[in-house]
Amino acid sequence: MKKQISFDCIQAEDFFVQHELEKMAPKVRRAHEMLHAGTGPGGEYTGWVNWPETYDSEEYARIKHVGAVIREKAEVFIVIGVGGSYLGSRAAIEMLCPAFHNKKTKFQHKAPEIYFAGHHISSSYMSQLLHLVKDKEVYVNVISKSGTTFEPALAFRLFRQLLEKRYGKEEARKRIFATTDKKQGALKELADQEGYETFIVPDNIGGRYSVLTPVGLLPMAVAGIDLDAVLAGAADAMELCGKPDIYDNPSYYYAALRNLFYSKGKAIELLVSYEPSLSSLAEWWKQLFGESEGKDGKGLFPASMSFSTDLHSLGQYVQDGRRHLFATTLWIETPNTQAEVIVPEIEDNLDGLNYLAGTSFSEINRKACEGAILAHTKGGVPNLRINIPEATPYYFGQVVYFFEKACGVSGHLLGVNPFDQTGVEAYKQNMMRLLNRLSIF
Ligand code: PA5
Repeated sequence: MKKQISFDCIQAEDFFVQHELEKMAPKVRRAHEMLHAGTGPGGEYTGWVNWPETYDSEEYARIKHVGAVIREKAEVFIVIGVGGSYLGSRAAIEMLCPAFHNKKTKFQHKAPEIYFAGHHISSSYMSQLLHLVKDKEVYVNVISKSGTTFEPALAFRLFRQLLEKRYGKEEARKRIFATTDKKQGALKELADQEGYETFIVPDNIGGRYSVLTPVGLLPMAVAGIDLDAVLAGAADAMELCGKPDIYDNPSYYYAALRNLFYSKGKAIELLVSYEPSLSSLAEWWKQLFGESEGKDGKGLFPASMSFSTDLHSLGQYVQDGRRHLFATTLWIETPNTQAEVIVPEIEDNLDGLNYLAGTSFSEINRKACEGAILAHTKGGVPNLRINIPEATPYYFGQVVYFFEKACGVSGHLLGVNPFDQTGVEAYKQNMMRLLNRLSIF
């Protein structure tokens, strides 16, 4: 078997005693049983647990085919969705595609420019995006499990109108792909009526656990990401994270420790990365844990930081502010050697950095990571670490499954339903009331 992602808590060991962790072991085992048997709260939404082995292979083949066609024909591909309907694919594309993937550079492979829409209601963003695609061949994937979510529905209205005006109804329908519920919702009805090709969000998988379903896979395919490798990574992670015991299962070890720290007053978890390409993975992680655990007056607050950038803004707080934090570092062990930068020697040495000449940026980044972990641990912030061997599709699949599994068990340990999100409704109801009022007066 290939090298696997790994978890270590060496820099956190001074913050708990072994028997505290051991006391959690039976609770973790119970949470594992509930998750696997689907008997815990929200058990009807645990289809993702076995998904890497149970996905529909016919639909999967269709995703690959449609992805290749869009790659070939599109100049611009718009992914419309919010929350779990876009964060996972965005995370994959940013982690796995070249940094400036929408520009043609020597690192870029043949792929359309990819933009996201429907994840906010900014008029400014939308008008600029519509302008940007003016003279380009546009294809759209609109994604909404419920099919009724306001932000993507609004954005889709605009793109549907644009495509129909530009290409006519018949051609527009060949350029629109809908990912939604198999039976119900406004998007499903619209897709059926208009004859869009559709992909299914499985009934038993909620939005934030859906990145490995058509929700995430079609945009990834368009970006040229190797889907077989993503799913192989997830399938291997099923085994890696399949045992009920914390010491045999790194995702449960992580889940147990974060709950232990929470019980000791560490109410905020910082997900720290040292590669800007992991920022969207952190956004996906924030939704996964924030929406799964933040309920009934409970839950760790998931925050993220990109180092070393944020060491110059929030580093002061982490080092010296209120001690209610712990950090989890996402570390990529083998840097991308094709894109390695070496510090040059400069004769005048005015900046005094010649002592680093010949050293790679990756090596310096590694030292920044080690230095920050040591400093923050000394400052009272326990540090956990998840090591990702390389930034490849295989390890993207692994890390997604690792976090999903940790999140499901973590929510059960906390005593909440990790698969609902009733709190999201409150703002929507107010907004709808206010909008109706606007139209009345
Ligand atoms: O995890 C969830 O279910 C939610 O956060 C959804 O992903 C988000 O609200 C988008 O919903 P939908 O896909 O129904 O448009």
